[in-house]
Amino acid sequence: MFSHKVIEKNSVLLLILTLVVVSIGGIIEIAPLFYLESTIEKVKGMRPYSPLELAGRNIYIREGCYNCHSQMIRPLRDEAERYGHYSLAAESMYDHPFQWGSKRTGPDLARVGGRYSDEWHVTHMRRPQDVVPESVMPPYSFLARTELDVPDISADLIANRRVGVPYSDEMIAKAKQDMMTQVDPDADEVDELLARYPKAQVRDFDGNPKMVSELDALISYLQMLGTLVDFTSYDPEKNRR
Ligand code: HEC
Repeated sequence: MFSHKVIEKNSVLLLILTLVVVSIGGIIEIAPLFYLESTIEKVKGMRPYSPLELAGRNIYIREGCYNCHSQMIRPLRDEAERYGHYSLAAESMYDHPFQWGSKRTGPDLARVGGRYSDEWHVTHMRRPQDVVPESVMPPYSFLARTELDVPDISADLIANRRVGVPYSDEMIAKAKQDMMTQVDPDADEVDELLARYPKAQVRDFDGNPKMVSELDALISYLQMLGTLVDFTSYDPEKNRR
């Protein structure tokens, strides 16, 4: 038997034994993952972002909204009561990069979709203090004035497909058309868009029909966050494949 004294006085032995113990712990943690078919529980309703939502998401990343907003509701009672059902891994399975965030100067946005009207978002983005007087969020009024200029939205879909998002050839070919259709409820192609992206919300998000602005894209993204999975029928046991 080892006396503890021997280990404590011999640093090389201590190091080797420490490594052995840590490796055992590591293997026990990691090995089961190799035998699981998937570490992400599949849930009904998840689909890749529509081209307009993806363009909005790119603006969200460009503007650094993640510096103040998280998109991950933790399974703690106070969070679930404030923000809704805790986030599921599957809800960020098409996020590259994910937007979980690590700082909450503002509220979590994982389920902000449908919580406010488009008009509220338009006002809030122009000057947050007009709707929340004590807000420290900076204004983003230029978004409404800036035309949505995406040279090639298909390229964004292709990039996402390379990292595993199941965009079909058809989705990629029609990306530009789908992006423009989502802000135009009268377009003939709305049915096509909805077939490709179920539950996509189609309307003029920023209230300015004369221009497709960056704000249109950003609000379409905010309004879909957390709306894909239907939690009234979500049952963790049944949803497992
Ligand atoms: C400096 C930190 C900061 C940045 C950067 C920031 N926000 Fe905020 N945001 C806040 C704060 C604080 C609030 C809460 C007060 C309010 O509603 O304005 C908030 C609230 C919000 C809300 C309402 C959430 C709710 O549930 O009431 C939305 C939506 C939002 N922000 C979106 C954005 C977007 C999109 C961006 C990037 C373009 C952004 N924010 C950038 C701090 C920030």
